[in-house]
Amino acid sequence: MKISFASGRPSGAYALAVPVWGDDTLGERLGELGEPARSIAASAAESQRFEREVGTIAEAFIPEGDGVRRLLLVGFGSNREEPALYERVGGALTARLLTSGETRLVIDLGGLGLSGEAAARIVFGAVARAWRYDVYRTKLGRKQKPTLDDIIVVGAGEGAESAWQRRSALNDGLSFTRELVTEPANILYPETFVDRCRSRMEPLGIEIGVLDDEEMRALGMGALIGVGQGSVRPPRLLTMRWNGGGGARPVVLVGKGITFDTGGISIKPAQGMEAMKWDMGGAGAVAGAMIALAGRKAKANVIGVCALAENMPDGNAQRPGDVVTSMSGQTIEVINTDAEGRLVLGDAITWAQREYKPEVLVDLATLTGAMIISLGHEYGGVFSNDDTLAGRLTAAGQAVGDKLWRMPMGDPYDKLIESPIADMKNVGPREGGSITAAQFIQRFVDPGVKWAHLDIAGMVWSDKASHLYDKGATGYGVALLDRFIADNYEG
Ligand code: BES
Ligand code: MN
Ligand code: ZN
Repeated sequence: MKISFASGRPSGAYALAVPVWGDDTLGERLGELGEPARSIAASAAESQRFEREVGTIAEAFIPEGDGVRRLLLVGFGSNREEPALYERVGGALTARLLTSGETRLVIDLGGLGLSGEAAARIVFGAVARAWRYDVYRTKLGRKQKPTLDDIIVVGAGEGAESAWQRRSALNDGLSFTRELVTEPANILYPETFVDRCRSRMEPLGIEIGVLDDEEMRALGMGALIGVGQGSVRPPRLLTMRWNGGGGARPVVLVGKGITFDTGGISIKPAQGMEAMKWDMGGAGAVAGAMIALAGRKAKANVIGVCALAENMPDGNAQRPGDVVTSMSGQTIEVINTDAEGRLVLGDAITWAQREYKPEVLVDLATLTGAMIISLGHEYGGVFSNDDTLAGRLTAAGQAVGDKLWRMPMGDPYDKLIESPIADMKNVGPREGGSITAAQFIQRFVDPGVKWAHLDIAGMVWSDKASHLYDKGATGYGVALLDRFIADNYEG
């Protein structure tokens, strides 16, 4: 999508979008159109029952010169503080126009007195909503093909372009995450995940490091190796380092990167199993966040670590009842091979702490189905040993629309993963399944490290379109992490 900012409307063909606040006088907003365009637009709005709720659209074709132009009146609503207001308006416009036949969109903000920041947020919403991944479609029909490829914003406030530059980096990260999440598991597996990150990130100045299976075995990562050993695709541990903040101790972000989760020997039912291609959504969000941070040259030290493995049943796969020794030295009885995310995260967290001595460590994972039972698809769950950290993550998420809800932890839950044969087992009872999973991960967090675990199982993929994404990969977590770093580590 080509984006530009201009002081006046261009010549030639384009669709024209005019945002309208709930309390604007329509006639005034349409003032410069002149008659009869103004009357046509007003009666079109009336007959489409356009009440200017956020992101609602009324369309009209108005005469201009010898031809007609498509006009979109788009609602801003009445609450100027509404979260993600401007993003939703931008998203509504591209959702409507992407495959409409229109190639150019002019968004006219003249006379609204919006800040440059608000204009950039509209553009971000528009671009984020337009993302799609058509690489495997060889027969896209004429009406399914995107046509819109040029957005011009007229009358944006001061600083709109630089505000957009920062969000453009965020959009790059978001798109990359969605791409990783969308790719099927025959294409994206641990080694190709690493390759893609390397080729996208090295040009941005992100340092890439990789441990292969031999190296991980030598380091004693028995939990991670155990998960990957049933697959012909060997596991990898990927590290991405963005050093933008002098000598400060780094923030470490760790992502669960199960490129496909069959459940292993504790195999999942066939129905819906294809969804488990996105069981690397935590790792995908971490990778996307690194691109967003590097792309805007964030003044912070951030390290991303992705624990990459494929969980398959096989003659060499681990069995229920196996006992593995993690890198931390703690032993684990693997009761259920489908509770694999916590196993790979445990070793990745141990390694990251030894290597980087972080002050703060945040992990993201599509960890439990129980999380979706608790919170549905509206909130991710945040579990933490530090109230301030949990509050900062929740606030960052609230600001960008990646919502989080704090979940409880504590000793009574921790007791539920005691094992009769090893230091712990990898599952508790059905009840409180997301919490016992978090307790398991906490056993790998060193004393003094501020840690939060985000269970994003319900957030990575959506069966219905929303204001910032179409059906499919949402990119959840990228904006949250970018904002969390911006608000807390770049001061
Ligand atoms: N990747 C799944 C969790 C999941 C399920 C994410 C559905 C998104 C949608 C995870 O590895 C898993 O299988 N968890 C088990 C844990 C159980 C065996 C204790 C689950 O939630 O059923
Ligand atoms: Mn699983
Ligand atoms: Zn999984």
